[in-house]
Amino acid sequence: MVNILAVLCVFTLTFVGSIYANVVATRDCGGYMFVDDLVVIDGPFNENCIFKFETQEDRVLVFSLIDGSLKEAEQYFSIHDGLDGDSPILLVGNQKLPEVSRKDLPASVYSTQSTASIRFKKTASNLFQLKIQKAINCPFNLGSASQCGRVVDEISCYCATFVKRNQSDQTMFCVDKGMKLIAFESQAEEGLIQSTWDIIDNYWTSLTDTRREGTWVWESTWKFPSSYLHWYGGEPNNANNEDCMVYGGSWKSAWNDWPCSNLSYAICEVQP
Ligand SMILES: *[C@@H]1O[C@H](CO)[C@@H](O)[C@H](O)[C@H]1NC(C)=O
Ligand SMILES: *[C@@H]1O[C@H](CO)[C@@H](O)[C@H](O)[C@H]1NC(C)=O
Repeated sequence: MVNILAVLCVFTLTFVGSIYANVVATRDCGGYMFVDDLVVIDGPFNENCIFKFETQEDRVLVFSLIDGSLKEAEQYFSIHDGLDGDSPILLVGNQKLPEVSRKDLPASVYSTQSTASIRFKKTASNLFQLKIQKAINCPFNLGSASQCGRVVDEISCYCATFVKRNQSDQTMFCVDKGMKLIAFESQAEEGLIQSTWDIIDNYWTSLTDTRREGTWVWESTWKFPSSYLHWYGGEPNNANNEDCMVYGGSWKSAWNDWPCSNLSYAICEVQP
């Protein structure tokens, strides 16, 4: 199955010339696909075509249109939460996004489990491309004094906790929720997080040099922040043996090293 998909990917990438990785385009009527990352199916579709999708057991599926309105396209098909004919229908209008999600994300429909299906009910005259991605099931929040949202894109999930803890307690708070203490992969990701949750107060991150003094590593991903740094002027200075990176407060959006035993808020994240 994996080999067939890989061959299809290479073929359709050349054929469709798409910017997406792992694209499977098909003009066949229906089929079953395992969604490792993302799959794109394009029409024209005929009525009664049924496509079935499955992803990793602890993940969900998100459907969106590459171009155009998913709500308008709903007249041509129904998206079902599961594989059976009587699985409940998922509609754009019924989707409840977690509390602080971006308002400008593409209109999408989420399954509540690892399988979903699309049933075409009438032949679409114009061609459209449906994107099906593996996504994280993002909770509304993580209990009191917390907020969650699709803050960066439609597939990942971010949560803020407004209970102050030291850095290792925040690491474990995230792990207990099936998440990781934040690691900024890019300036864009950092910007979106900092514009969602104000930086009046301090937030712990997973960047630390506890393992080797002076060597900073994102402990959540075991990656060096080599391609992207945002230290405040004169930081990190290791005053009072400061081994954990915090942002917010006096340093606003920039990074400072602080004693890991200090208490701060934190952001947890999870990527599919
Ligand atoms: C963090 O706080 C916990 C108590 O909540 C404490 O047991 C632990 O030693 C603290 N760790 C650090 C590094 O300060
Ligand atoms: C955090 O650590 C610094 C020392 O680097 C200290 O001056 C400050 O008071 C601490 N803040 C809190 C809230 O513990």
